[in-house]
Amino acid sequence: MVEAKSNNTLPVPAKNIADIRKDYQLAALDESHTGDDPLLFFHKWFSEAEEAQVNEVNAMTLATVDAYGKPHARIVLLKGLDDKGFVFFTNYTSAKGHNIDDNPHAALVFFWGELERQVRVEGIIEKVTAEESDAYFQSRPQGSRLGAWASPQSTVIADRSILYENYIKYDKEFDGNIPRPPHWGGYRLLPAEIEFWQGRSSRMHDRIRFKMNPGNTWEKARLAP
Ligand SMILES: Cc1cc2nc3c(=O)[nH]c(=O)nc-3n(C[C@H](O)[C@H](O)[C@H](O)COP(=O)(O)O)c2cc1C
Repeated sequence: MVEAKSNNTLPVPAKNIADIRKDYQLAALDESHTGDDPLLFFHKWFSEAEEAQVNEVNAMTLATVDAYGKPHARIVLLKGLDDKGFVFFTNYTSAKGHNIDDNPHAALVFFWGELERQVRVEGIIEKVTAEESDAYFQSRPQGSRLGAWASPQSTVIADRSILYENYIKYDKEFDGNIPRPPHWGGYRLLPAEIEFWQGRSSRMHDRIRFKMNPGNTWEKARLAP
């Protein structure tokens, strides 16, 4: 345990942060590997990340932009992937929900360190149908369903006890039959760009980017690392 010094300087970490680095040597990514459909290739990489037991494999950074053009990023969990896009669930009245109302442009980032891989996705977000949100909500454990009612996500609360009080209140009110809150549901990011990054030695990484053309076809290109 490192003690903070009294003169308000930060504690000295065990290793100088500037000296932390890794040379990536696991794999290469060639244009011929990806095929022409980036969603299919994403699925392949996701399966490989699952097989490699990547920690929280479906965790992704979601970046949104507010009405003033200011970006905000946080982790959410990928809960669905189909030929339209990437689905996650949240509180529609959260900060991210307000951002998406103001500006539907958003970005996702997956980092699968165990495989030395990153995937970046950019596009427009839309709400999933109420039926999709209902189906996923009802598949969640009871505690998570009550939690969705109990937490006014992203608002300031006086202390933690408010969450427990809400939880108990809704538990009594619904008596095991918990409907989806109207303010909670899914979003789908419809990708316009997807980039696959494979770490390589000496920072000579591979980057293959797919961009959606106006004719709804994907254009593939290699980017400099
Ligand atoms: C591993 C992990 C998974 C998370 N998954 C979700 C999720 O699926 N949905 C969600 O609303 N928040 C999730 N969160 C919490 C968000 O990062 C964030 O704190 C919350 O959504 C409020 O964000 P906002 O105030 O920007 O709206 C997750 C956090 C972590 C660390």
